[in-house]
Amino acid sequence: MHVVIVGSGIAGLTAAVRASARHDVTLVTKGALRDGATAYAQGGIAVALGADDRVALHEQDTRAAAAGSADEHAVAVLCADGPARVRDLLALGVPFDRTTDPASLDRYGDDLARGREAAHGRWRVLHADGDATGAAVERTLVDALHRCHVTILERTCLTGLVLRAGAVVGVDVLDLLGEPRRIDADAVVLAAGGAGHLYRETTNPLVATGDGVAAAWRAGAVVADLEFVQFHPTRLAVPDGGLVSEAVRGEGAVLRDAAGRRFMTAVHPDAELAPRDVVARGIAAAVREQGGAPVLLDATGLDPDHLVRRFPGLTRATRAAGFDWTREGVPVAPAAHYAMGGVVTDAEGRTSLPGLLAVGETACTGVHGANRLASNSLLEGLVFGVRAADAVAVPRPAHLRLRGDADLPVVTVPPVVTDGHDGTDVAGAHRASRPVHGDRPGGATHPRDVTDVRRVVQTEMTERVGLLRDAAGLAAARRTLDALPDPAPTGVRAAEDRALLDLARITARAAEARRESRGAHARTDHPDTDPTAPASTAWVRTPVTVTTPVQQGVPA
Ligand code: SIN
Repeated sequence: MHVVIVGSGIAGLTAAVRASARHDVTLVTKGALRDGATAYAQGGIAVALGADDRVALHEQDTRAAAAGSADEHAVAVLCADGPARVRDLLALGVPFDRTTDPASLDRYGDDLARGREAAHGRWRVLHADGDATGAAVERTLVDALHRCHVTILERTCLTGLVLRAGAVVGVDVLDLLGEPRRIDADAVVLAAGGAGHLYRETTNPLVATGDGVAAAWRAGAVVADLEFVQFHPTRLAVPDGGLVSEAVRGEGAVLRDAAGRRFMTAVHPDAELAPRDVVARGIAAAVREQGGAPVLLDATGLDPDHLVRRFPGLTRATRAAGFDWTREGVPVAPAAHYAMGGVVTDAEGRTSLPGLLAVGETACTGVHGANRLASNSLLEGLVFGVRAADAVAVPRPAHLRLRGDADLPVVTVPPVVTDGHDGTDVAGAHRASRPVHGDRPGGATHPRDVTDVRRVVQTEMTERVGLLRDAAGLAAARRTLDALPDPAPTGVRAAEDRALLDLARITARAAEARRESRGAHARTDHPDTDPTAPASTAWVRTPVTVTTPVQQGVPA
């Protein structure tokens, strides 16, 4: 069978390598193979491999971080399959860091070096090249891909899914010349990553614009948990500053306010190693209290040689920004990092649409619930990438229990209609931009140039659907977003903008509907978790008639 895999991060590469042993595989990726988020992962891969650890303990930490919204079955699968999948990476040659420390050899029963990150009860995060784990994994998997028989289409942007009789039978893309093209498939695996660029500040690379989730949504797949957006607590707070790994705090770095106070000790008993959402909000509160000035990540208490050796990439990045972090604190601030929500799947990556699977950040297995445990995302890509590849040719069960054990409440929403256009794939449709009237904070209304849809989306999402939310802001964001015209996907930038707008609309709606605080979703008007609220809420578009013009077929 012909399998089209969209995306070339850890999930897509793993699925492609695995599926290519049995199927004819085409891998489609928007940039170059290595442009995705995986290559930027610093901390590492969490896995219960050490002699002091147990799969059950990893499960327990994953569930605790998830704030009551994890899917038990998916978590059990992730943690149980993890050790075998990481051994696969070792066999492929990923150069995980090693140690000769006798205490470590004794405790863990192997020479793998391990880091610790927030909310992990054990040191179980494997890393490579110090703080360049993702790059090492990506490199190794790309090499493995090149040894397989896979057709690779780089600089090819997904614009839609092709449906026939309710099943997904292909993808529409813009090829590297920007031309629309259709690729037929017996199965499509979406591994297109997340949508950090919904926000002004993000740790994600430029390609992270939610193309996979948006295409699935437009095709009528069930999506869930989009209100759960993880903000990483520490992005280097300089223009274009990148991620500063949580592993730095795991090694002992602390957070200080402008007065030099360790403010996190008053927020949570685990202080800087509290769950990510707690640390991100703690930092945001400290920043507010000191009039907007960033807080400082202080690693000066660590042995300078160890700091530089353990984090060579971050040493270079902080130095390039003008800081010597062995001697002084570096400014940090929260930034959008990871989408816990996505296309709802079962533990084999199958979605509500026959022929469509999703893995990695694009998918919502329920494994992360309302807040992902640090360094579980590379593991997720590995574990579910393999499971999805193995599932593509398996007959679909008559009744699919999506998200494992949960029978999700599903909210059906009509498509947004702007200018009489329903936002479905109508390739080649050109839409005139026009000013719309959007609500501003404080109630003022002014016309806004919507030619730059992305800027409006990022402003609304950052100011009203960000780290802290409330009913008035969410309703205003929803109205503004719904009033924006859908960009026609005539080029890559416009296709990305359409995806971002689709996701921004559902995210604002989902955040408005969840009238409680849970994990990464913090409502100032509903600060407590409501034990009667659904752990997860799914969303689906009402069916629409899609009149996609026939494009030139591409033989598989
Ligand atoms: C980090 O290194 O802090 C990021 C790791 C992750 O997001 O899991």
